[in-house]
Amino acid sequence: MSEQPLIVPVILAAGQGKRMRSSVPKVLQPLAEAPLLDHVLAAAEGLGAVSPVVVVGHGGEQVEAHLAGRDVRIALQDRQLGTGHAVAQALPRIEDEAIVLVLYGDVPLIATDTLRQLTAHASDGALAWLTVHVEDPHGLGRILRDDGGAVIGIVEERDATPVQRGLREVNTGILAVHCAALKRWVAALDCDNAQGEYYLTDCLAMAVAEGVPVRVHRCEDPREVLGINDRSQLAEAERTLNRMRADRLLAQGVMLRDPARLDIRGRVEAGRDVEIDVGVILKGRVVLAEGCYVGPYSVLSDCTLAAGARIEAHSVIDGAEVGAGCAVGPFARLRSGARLAETSRVGNFVEVKNAAIGIGSKVNHLSYIGDATLGEDVNVGAGTITCNYDGANKHHTRIGDRAFIGSNAALVAPVEVGDGATVGAGSVLTRSAPPGELTLARARQTTIQGWQRPVKRKE
Ligand code: UD1
Ligand code: CA
Repeated sequence: MSEQPLIVPVILAAGQGKRMRSSVPKVLQPLAEAPLLDHVLAAAEGLGAVSPVVVVGHGGEQVEAHLAGRDVRIALQDRQLGTGHAVAQALPRIEDEAIVLVLYGDVPLIATDTLRQLTAHASDGALAWLTVHVEDPHGLGRILRDDGGAVIGIVEERDATPVQRGLREVNTGILAVHCAALKRWVAALDCDNAQGEYYLTDCLAMAVAEGVPVRVHRCEDPREVLGINDRSQLAEAERTLNRMRADRLLAQGVMLRDPARLDIRGRVEAGRDVEIDVGVILKGRVVLAEGCYVGPYSVLSDCTLAAGARIEAHSVIDGAEVGAGCAVGPFARLRSGARLAETSRVGNFVEVKNAAIGIGSKVNHLSYIGDATLGEDVNVGAGTITCNYDGANKHHTRIGDRAFIGSNAALVAPVEVGDGATVGAGSVLTRSAPPGELTLARARQTTIQGWQRPVKRKE
């Protein structure tokens, strides 16, 4: 096998994005909770490409600050004199032998597979150019072909004749070619056109004139090359991205009650026969093992659900591990460090934080369990609170196997309830409850014989 040529992505990100009406530079606008630019960087990273060059201009400091600490080189384009001029700012940093892959910070849905196919076309010195067929080519550069069908150039809409404007094959702007050739062409660009800009697109005709082979690669899915200029397109891209991610889950055997009503803002791994109801939002890294169910309007971030776990409607799970066969919700909140062992249950209006709940244990109603360890088959009654915070420090509560905590108990940590202990309803525990015994920590019930209710005075 021949050695893989070095691929260096050049990402144009100098435009202002005026139509966003925002103080945040366009390429940092969030799409599914990640800046547009990060989506492009991820697509390039998937190629195994090294250290991209990002061309910044408007809001350059903000973009640079965002990229700090990452394996990315920055090139500054002071004035936005056109796409050809933007690429020219990056090229001096790139070795002649490398293949340059030109990408755009505001075209975030491009797939790594498409880029792999495109760059493969450039490996023997050809100029590889990504085009797309669209219904409405308005505003885009048209691909020009001769009578034999060979590509001969690109004309921008504003420079095009009425006949050329009728063409539906358009320029995505994405291309791949050896750096040496691109350096030569970019240096020869002029701005003799309707916009007075240095058009990167003019490089195509230069390649043809030099006899360099040009290979047009058609992008099969126009959604990948959707450019974002305003908030309406940003919202549309988010819908599109969600749909693409939902389609991937469907293909893996996940049942989505309505793929249009699922938001995937992170990475999801899902096993077979997972079922996700409507209105669900998935963020960060979410793992859903075989047969899990996520009920309507639940929000899951950075969590793992083991096989057969059920999250009922309106639950919020963040940074938690849910064991096999567990039942959570409706209206439950699992916070960071909540670890539910298999077949345990957390019911409505229960909050769990930094706590381990043992196998088969139940916290079914209206409780707060924080900084606690519960053994197996524990039953926590409604309204029970672990008082973990003394105003300065957090303390731990330990509850042994098969313990029974009566309703409305307050467990003032640090405190321990022994195995098999019973705590009476309404108790305020400040000391440990011994194993196997009934502990009561509440006022004894008394009855006042002959007591009279007050009656309203007559005026
Ligand atoms: C460009 C293409 C057009 C193509 C379209 C696809 C040219 C001349 N035209 O047109 O053929 O169909 O993209 O969307 O290339 N940028 C800079 N610095 C500059 C100018 C632009 O960084 O000086 C960046 C912008 O931030 C933007 C991208 O390059 O991300 C495209 O620039 P834009 O001016 O929007 O080009 P279009 O007119 O849309
Ligand atoms: Ca544009």
